[in-house]
Amino acid sequence: MPRLEHIGIAVREAKATAALYERLFGVAPYKVETVAREGVRTHFIDAGTAKLELLEALGKDSPVAKFLDRRGEGLHHLAFEVDDVEATMARLREAGFHPLSDAPRPGADGKRIFFLHPKETHGVLVEFCGSAALPLDTATVPFGDGSFPAHTCGAPDAPALVVLFRASGASLRLLDPLLRRFEPRFRVVALDLAARSPADPSPAPLRAALDHLGVARAHLFAHAEDVPAVLRFARDHPERAARLALHAPDASALSDDDLRRISAPALLAAADTGAPLDAVLRLRRLLPRTALAVLPDDALDAFAPVLVRWFMAA
Ligand code: CO
Repeated sequence: MPRLEHIGIAVREAKATAALYERLFGVAPYKVETVAREGVRTHFIDAGTAKLELLEALGKDSPVAKFLDRRGEGLHHLAFEVDDVEATMARLREAGFHPLSDAPRPGADGKRIFFLHPKETHGVLVEFCGSAALPLDTATVPFGDGSFPAHTCGAPDAPALVVLFRASGASLRLLDPLLRRFEPRFRVVALDLAARSPADPSPAPLRAALDHLGVARAHLFAHAEDVPAVLRFARDHPERAARLALHAPDASALSDDDLRRISAPALLAAADTGAPLDAVLRLRRLLPRTALAVLPDDALDAFAPVLVRWFMAA
């Protein structure tokens, strides 16, 4: 079953509705986006497992305006995320459905989307959405006698969040859903330190990247064998490490004394299957300020909202 990506709700005044959700749940929209060709302005609220998309009509001819006239405010559509939006459209056509557009169209939040009419889906407008790759800027960080790439997205004046990837073969593509969640709130820097120094847990490349990008202080997120570089960086530069999130950490290279000297708050995360919980519990014992997240599996979907909340709490 594809993931429920968001719930579209038609509203007369998105601001007032957003204020209501803030009173109910203490969460403000993380993004407001106008999609002119659809005649809507959207407010996005992060509701954990899925998003809420508040839809406000831009003019009388907007499909949302017509919906509001006919049915009033309320549930407008359910959106499901699929890996390949074109293939899904072709498969559904084959199966006798009639998508409302000839091809997937650009939607809000960097998606490509199409809809099925409620008359074919027992009364609920169904959206299928797929993610266009998140646009990243790539800088080249000089290091030693070579260099390595630093990929960035998000507002330059937002708090910096460094994501170390490539440990255990993670790729930018795999990280895409996570970067997408971070991008509205942080200046995200994705670094592939493993390419630079596969077996070297030195914090030097990380420091070089932050210096090159002019980042004084950053949140740091690392996985498995990228964790020692982050811990050493936090130990050596306490003023530059804001909050840490360490997933399936491998910290056997650091002594107990090394770990006790780290002052940055750290979220320790592990999947309940496979990952060595012993390593997590050792960090839990030795780092001064920690929180613990044990996840049902390796799904980034479940982890993303936990990470966002952790870094936003700074
Ligand atoms: Co939608």
